[in-house]
Amino acid sequence: MAGYDYIPHLYNVRFEQPGSARQDDEYMVADLDGETRRVNIHDYASMYQVPWLYDIALYHVLKCETPTEMSGAIKGVWDEHNVDMEGLRVLELGAGSGAFGHELRHTLGVGRLIGLDIEPKAAEAAKRDRPGLYDEYVVADLTALSTAEQEMLEDEQFNTVAMASATGWGNHIPMAGFEKGFELLRPGGWFIFHVKPNDPDPECIELCDWVQAKVDSGALRQAYRRSHFHRKSSNGSEIFYDVVLGVKE
Ligand SMILES: C[S@@+](CC[C@H](N)C(=O)[O-])C[C@H]1O[C@@H](n2cnc3c(N)ncnc32)[C@H](O)[C@@H]1O
Repeated sequence: MAGYDYIPHLYNVRFEQPGSARQDDEYMVADLDGETRRVNIHDYASMYQVPWLYDIALYHVLKCETPTEMSGAIKGVWDEHNVDMEGLRVLELGAGSGAFGHELRHTLGVGRLIGLDIEPKAAEAAKRDRPGLYDEYVVADLTALSTAEQEMLEDEQFNTVAMASATGWGNHIPMAGFEKGFELLRPGGWFIFHVKPNDPDPECIELCDWVQAKVDSGALRQAYRRSHFHRKSSNGSEIFYDVVLGVKE
């Protein structure tokens, strides 16, 4: 099945004209079995609690292509480096309902896949809509892991840490979470994410600066960095991000 065809078309969802160009100032209206609900695009708990709602809004209505764009880029780089994908132990940060996890597992065929998200409803959505996708799904705040969570994640010896659509903006993974994700990766492992360059959002600027500092210090080697289509904004414009595949030195 190609692209996002496997995501069912269950509800009529439409987006309002946004009040600003900020990516978190977007609202949708969804018809859900007789009830009409208005939800902010970053109100993850509300979206994840309705089967497939997040995926329908993002992947069908806003035509988000980040999971497939990223997996295509990753496949190219990993094929070039003769990476044994089955031997990869992957931590996916901000895993949400699992659209990027689907690509990691089914398109790329990674061997072990652990999802992590701060939102308990994300874990419920992934288990409900994509049963069996993750080997484990950890509900935790990446910026405030308990000792037990930290030890459990360290024991996994991750050789890949990846995230899609979980960077920048108010309720996405903050810098301290990025740093923690990087810390949980073994040297020589793949650090995979995307960043939005040239955006005035303070968290996007901070993340771009963090990447540059890691590259300048020699801690991260960028094996790939290219602009890819992310999604349409509800005002009709197109959003692009840089997909980055780095190796932790
Ligand atoms: C846009 S969604 C992720 C989409 C998902 N990766 C996909 O492929 O469809 C961003 C996710 O980051 C999670 N998140 C935000 N802050 C976090 C934190 N401190 N620790 C872990 N997850 C966090 C949110 O709960 C949300 O599920």
